[in-house]
Amino acid sequence: MPGTVEDVDVPSASDVLRRCRELVRPALVDAVGRLHPWTGEMAAYALGWSDTAGTPEPGGSEGKGVRQALAVLGAEAVGADAACAVPGAVAVELVHTFSLLHDDVMDADALRRRRPAVWKAYGTGPAVLAGDALLARAVTGLAGTPGDHAAAAVRRLCDALNDLVAGQAEDLRFEHRPWDGPGAVGPEEYRSMAEGKTGALLGCALALGAVLGGAPEPTVAALDRAGRHLGLAFQAVDDILGIWGDPATTGKPVHADLHRGKKTHPVLAALAGGSRAARELGTLLASSRPTDAAAERVASLVEEAGGRAATRGEARRHLDAARYALRATPLTRTAARELDVLFAGLADRVM
Ligand code: IPE
Ligand code: MG
Ligand code: MG
Repeated sequence: MPGTVEDVDVPSASDVLRRCRELVRPALVDAVGRLHPWTGEMAAYALGWSDTAGTPEPGGSEGKGVRQALAVLGAEAVGADAACAVPGAVAVELVHTFSLLHDDVMDADALRRRRPAVWKAYGTGPAVLAGDALLARAVTGLAGTPGDHAAAAVRRLCDALNDLVAGQAEDLRFEHRPWDGPGAVGPEEYRSMAEGKTGALLGCALALGAVLGGAPEPTVAALDRAGRHLGLAFQAVDDILGIWGDPATTGKPVHADLHRGKKTHPVLAALAGGSRAARELGTLLASSRPTDAAAERVASLVEEAGGRAATRGEARRHLDAARYALRATPLTRTAARELDVLFAGLADRVM
């Protein structure tokens, strides 16, 4: 699409992510280098830097680095030098990696970024330990940030961690809740779970950049809110990809959420519709956890009952709310535009 004069100089989302990864990389390598060699090897594998033999795999299965980019842009958006955000960027990237290691154990997902999950490659005990090591290193590193903002930054990170753990607790407990009747998971409960498990860290990433850049509290709070809405959009997209995504693209198994009875947005929205497809879906889900063949049927009924479209709408609404929160905050022009591009790129995965 031809650019207008306004956006001629705006880089693409992948350009923004690459610039931020390059800026943060030396400090991230240093942090991983401070781990015990064994947990360090698992961390390097989880980060996509090396294979299970510890042989470097440059760029192989590296994540996008969304959270580190949000921290960097959070600082730039409040007029601070990007360098001041680096300790925050490292911390959120380590926390994210830790949360994925433990999440794959909790969800019994054997595949992550097209490779065996860390627990599959190294064993469950070692994967849990590597996650612990990453978490401890994240907090230690952030606490050692030079200047006046370390304590406020650690507090924000710990608040987000508490929300993340609470969200993961709800996510696991919901597996055992019924799909209908008085015990069913309501929209507000879903939202609180998704905001906790995914939104809290994205909000924290943006907010940390601003905290380390010395921004006033209202600006920090607005960035946190924007990141949380981004997280809800991101989780809606993740829920869609968990049902209709191609594992070759996502690098994760498809239908795993359906097999485990995860209360994802598309299924909840489909059931709420009350159509013939919704009723058939309800009966199918009530009988047992879907096998491989039944999962295909569940997926088509969810689509027919409007669950996929409703979740796309949900992602769009949260993306709009995230962008609105940015626009309503005084931010530097270039970083605000880069954030906008990044936000749109992340939600665009299925739109
Ligand atoms: C992951 O949630 C949230 C955290 C890691 C805290 P999901 O379990 O829904 O995400 P994927 O699909 O495994 O990445
Ligand atoms: Mg998972
Ligand atoms: Mg999970």
